[in-house]
Amino acid sequence: MGRIIILKIGGSVITEKDKPLTPRLEGIRSAAEAVAEFGEPLVLVHGAGSFGHFLAKKYGLSRHPSMASPEAVAEIRDSVMKLDSMVIEALRSKGVQVYWLQPFALYNIGGIHEKWKTILTNLIQQGISPISFGDVIPTSEGFRIISGDEIVRDLAELLHPVRVVFAMDVDGIYRNYRKDERPIEELSIEEAKRLAVDPVKIDVTGGMEGKLKEAIKIARIGINVHFTNGLKKEHLIKALKGKDHEGTLVKGKLLA
Ligand code: IPE
Repeated sequence: MGRIIILKIGGSVITEKDKPLTPRLEGIRSAAEAVAEFGEPLVLVHGAGSFGHFLAKKYGLSRHPSMASPEAVAEIRDSVMKLDSMVIEALRSKGVQVYWLQPFALYNIGGIHEKWKTILTNLIQQGISPISFGDVIPTSEGFRIISGDEIVRDLAELLHPVRVVFAMDVDGIYRNYRKDERPIEELSIEEAKRLAVDPVKIDVTGGMEGKLKEAIKIARIGINVHFTNGLKKEHLIKALKGKDHEGTLVKGKLLA
């Protein structure tokens, strides 16, 4: 069986975080090049950055289902699709062959349907990288935002990859995020938990806290989780290889 590696390309890598609906073209290109140069098919998930998040905030949508206006849903969806096609185009232009999967298709009540295990594994074996993304999805109680981090965690539980990599716009997880501070090299699950409940100790965005929480859940099933800078091609390639990559490793440990 081909080994599986899951890569989340954060919205901060592919969009200008502070400029609504603006792609970060050099980030999209650099991440695509890293994936191409790594050379093996990956399970890919990307975030929505200043596309989806900006609009989700504007219309008051969150991870909890709510009755959103038709305009809100259509506009958010449209924005993530636009970003998604830019990412896919960049990957394909570098020779990475992808198969697009909308998150809604993956999910069954309670999680990702078991059938996807074989389908995704087969795609990887055939040299195709399945790609999904943070999105707005319908539920029986309205629409909700599903983050790419959540999809990554559910995919990790289903597929048991050899490692999971989160690519961001900073080098890794920091204790205080001061100038010249280097990211923490390695975190045990226990240390990561302490950081995740004390957001003043980590990078300021709530996004990082959420990522760390998903990473802890993945590490608890015995999978190493690497945080790296997706804007630095060499860092990302090393992280995909599971080598020392100047980022942060949350060490996986199977907890009984
Ligand atoms: C968010 O996905 C999806 C929408 C807001 C529609 P993510 O939460 O994975 O996006 P990033 O990586 O944080 O930008």
